[in-house]
Amino acid sequence: MTTLRLSGITACVFDAYGTLFDFTSAAAQERSALGDQWQALSDLWRTKQLQYTWLRSLMGKHADFWQVTGDALDFAMTSLKIEDPALRDRLMSLYLKLCAYPEVKDTLTQLKAHGMKLATLSNGEPKMLKAAVDNSGIADLLDAVLSVEEVGIYKPHPNVYRLATDRFGVKADQICFVSSNAWDAHAAKAFGFRVVWCNRFGQAPERIPSPPDREITTLASLPAIVGMS
Ligand code: LAC
Repeated sequence: MTTLRLSGITACVFDAYGTLFDFTSAAAQERSALGDQWQALSDLWRTKQLQYTWLRSLMGKHADFWQVTGDALDFAMTSLKIEDPALRDRLMSLYLKLCAYPEVKDTLTQLKAHGMKLATLSNGEPKMLKAAVDNSGIADLLDAVLSVEEVGIYKPHPNVYRLATDRFGVKADQICFVSSNAWDAHAAKAFGFRVVWCNRFGQAPERIPSPPDREITTLASLPAIVGMS
């Protein structure tokens, strides 16, 4: 892990799911109903959710992230032979109440105290994002909650990343984009942001263009990197 500073950053823009909010917390809270399958369900649900965003974008068949998340859950439950409509409803409700990772609030508070503009930029549709932001108690810390619904296509389309430069009226290289999703980090770097990959899950580096500028394991390392320790 390096703490070499990135200079000239005026805004930090965060991916939501997996970066601010722990998407595994939905299935984890239904561990008693899911038993040993909870982790497999959680992993397949997430994998399919992302695949469906990419497929729909390439197909030109956008549907919002609530729909995609439900479709992915249906696929995962069918694959694992779990037939339980009430459980399905509970899991979707829990997706609106995901827990933030433990260091999120403190990190955002530190960044905000130093005058950094803060936003989340996510595939999530506005109601889902509002629910997660409110549930985590970070609404007051964010200057903007940006959703792909404004452009009708998913990450990694450049129009999504442009929402942040448009909102803050700054050049891409003044924004530090932070994501735990390596593919999102590479795409944000290709767009022109400075990028920190929060490699929470100890994943191997991707073999695609535009690697991120820095790699960290939790957001707690971020304030030092953007020049404010
Ligand atoms: C998001 C997904 C990629 O929040 O995690 O945009």
